[in-house]
This record gives sequence, structure tokens and C-alpha cells, in this order.
Amino acid sequence: MTKKVGVLFVCLGNICRSPTADGIFRHLVKAASLGDKIHVDSCGTGGWHAGEAPDKRTQAHAKERGYDLSMLRGRQFKKSDFEDFQYILCMDYDNLANIKDLEPVDSKAILQLFGEYCEHQGTPHAVPDPYYGGADGFENVINMVEEGCRNLLEKIREDHSL
Ligand code: 4NP
Repeated sequence: MTKKVGVLFVCLGNICRSPTADGIFRHLVKAASLGDKIHVDSCGTGGWHAGEAPDKRTQAHAKERGYDLSMLRGRQFKKSDFEDFQYILCMDYDNLANIKDLEPVDSKAILQLFGEYCEHQGTPHAVPDPYYGGADGFENVINMVEEGCRNLLEKIREDHSL
């Protein structure tokens, strides 16, 4: 059996932005009947929320838009992720810099800012952290993530003829 294409979303706490991307991308992968070809996961650069479900506000906003994030559990990024995932998408520049610091020289993973896939954002392409803000921030995350995930899936389908 050929190995699945691995897609990993990374943020700081793994309870707001990256679980949102994880859930939305899973939804798109399932809708495209690509679940047996693409493996999706998310994690945080920090480990404070390891084992926890996504933030209640993140879950509530996602649910309103049709995405169930309740089964996701937080975990911290680990070095073996560079072998297990071909696409590693970071939500902001700090996340990207922190993951780059851990990148082995022979890594074949494509390590990028997730915002590269969001067309209508000016630079910088970070997905802003909603944790300390209000409802607008959570809605913004979903809007950016929906668009970026659609474009990312198209790119992966092209790259792998899926
Ligand atoms: P996330 O948001 O990186 O999008 O999951 C945060 C969640 C928790 C914290 C910071 C950001 N925190 O400091 O606990």
C-alpha cells in the first residue's frame, strides 16, 4: 500500500487555529473521497494544551459553520513529524520560525506559512491568534482557513495527481 500524503497544521496552542484547519481540511478531504489518500493532523509548538479538546469558542464557531471539532485532541509538534508529514503548514511567522529551528537538514517536508494559500490577504499572511480576543477573531480564523484549505487541497491534488 502506498503511504498516505501527510498534512500537518501547526499553531501555538493547538486549541484554536490549527484544530480549525484540521477539522475543515478533513471535511474537504472526506467530501472529495480522498480519505484513503490523505492523512490530516494538527499540533502546537507549545505543549500546554496536550490532550485537550479544542477551545470551547473555537468549537462553537466551527459548529455553527458545520464543522465538528469535538473529537480532536491537542498535542505538541515532534521531530518525527518531519518524516511523517509531507506538508507542514504554520499559522503564523513565530510558529514557522520555531518549526524551522527544528528542521533536519535532510527533511523533505514542504514547510510553509498556511497563509500562502489565502489569496485575498496582504502580507504578512499570518492567521491571527484569536485566543485573547472576541468573536470576530474566531470568525476570521474560519474564513481564512476555509479559503486556504480549499487552495491547499487543490495544490496537493495537482502535486500527487489525486
Ligand atoms: P492557538 O491559540 O495557537 O491558535 O491554539 C492559542 C491557544 C492558547 C494559547 C495561546 C494561543 N495559550 O497561551 O494558552
